[in-house]
Amino acid sequence: MADLSTTYMGLTLRNPLIIASCGYTDSVAEIKKLEKHGAGAVVLKSLFEEQILMDVDEQRVNNIYGTYSDVENYVSFYTRKRQLDDYLALIRESKEKTSIPIIASINCISDSQWVEFAGKIQEAGADGLELNMFIMPSDEQFTGTEIEQIYFDVVKKVKEQTTLPVALKISYFFSGMANFTLRLSQSGISALVLFNRFFSPDIDLDTEKVIYKKGIPVVGTILNEIGHWMDTKGYKSMDEIIGRMAQKNLSRPMVYERAQFMKYFADS
Ligand SMILES: Cc1cc2nc3c(=O)[nH]c(=O)nc-3n(C[C@H](O)[C@H](O)[C@H](O)COP(=O)(O)O)c2cc1C
Repeated sequence: MADLSTTYMGLTLRNPLIIASCGYTDSVAEIKKLEKHGAGAVVLKSLFEEQILMDVDEQRVNNIYGTYSDVENYVSFYTRKRQLDDYLALIRESKEKTSIPIIASINCISDSQWVEFAGKIQEAGADGLELNMFIMPSDEQFTGTEIEQIYFDVVKKVKEQTTLPVALKISYFFSGMANFTLRLSQSGISALVLFNRFFSPDIDLDTEKVIYKKGIPVVGTILNEIGHWMDTKGYKSMDEIIGRMAQKNLSRPMVYERAQFMKYFADS
C-alpha cells in the first residue's frame, strides 16, 4: 500500500491524519485510542488565554470581564475545573503513553502575559503548539489592519518564549485573505491551519443529544480510504500528491477561478 508518511511543521508523521483539537483530545485514554486507530498526530483540546491569565493575575481578568458577570463566573468556574497543571500533566502523560506527536493548543486573543505558558508547554514535552485565534471585529475603534496586526504580535511574543514549532489556526473572516496568509507565512509560524469552524452543534432528535457523527474508529476508515485512493491512482507517497491541485500550478488563477464561479452560477 502507498506510504502515507509525511512531515508537518517539522515533525515526522506516519500519516497526515491529524486529529484536530476537540472533545476527543482531552484525555490520555481517548488519545491512546486515537493512536490505536491510526492517528498521525493529535492536537490537544485548547486552553483559553483567560484561564492562563487567571492563574497569574486573577484581578486583571476580572477587570476585563468585570461588567459581564456571567462571563466572569464562567471563566473562573472553567479555570477551577481545568487547572493549568492538569493541562501540563495531559501533555506529559500523552507523551509517555503514546508515540505520536502531541501538539498543545491555546485559544488566544492577545499577546499578554499568558505567552509565558508556551515555555511550560515545551518543558512538559509537547512537540508543537497550535494557536487558535479569532479577534472579534466588534470594536469600531479598530481597523482591519490593526486587528490583523494582533496576529503578528502574538506569534512574535510566543516565538520569544518557545522554540517549539508554532501553528496558527484562523477563521475565514478576513477581507484580504490571500495577502494576510502570505504575510503570516513569513511571520515565523511553521504551519497555518485553515480553517477553524465555528461551533454549530447538531442535535440528534431521537436521542436528544449533541453528537459526534462518527466515533474514533472512523480514523482507520479514513486512512484506508486515502491508501486505497492512492493505490488506485498509482501514487506511492504523500510527496506525489501534496500541492497537486495548488493554485500555483495555474498560469492565471484569478481568471480560472472567475470562470468556475460563472460556470457554477450559470448552470444552477
Ligand atoms: C466538539 C468540538 C470541539 C472543538 N474544540 C476545539 C478547541 O478546543 N480548540 C480548537 O482550536 N478547536 C476546536 N474545535 C475546532 C476543530 O479543532 C476544527 O478546527 C474544526 O472542527 C474545523 O475542522 P473540520 O472542518 O474538519 O471540522 C472543536 C470542534 C468541535 C466539533
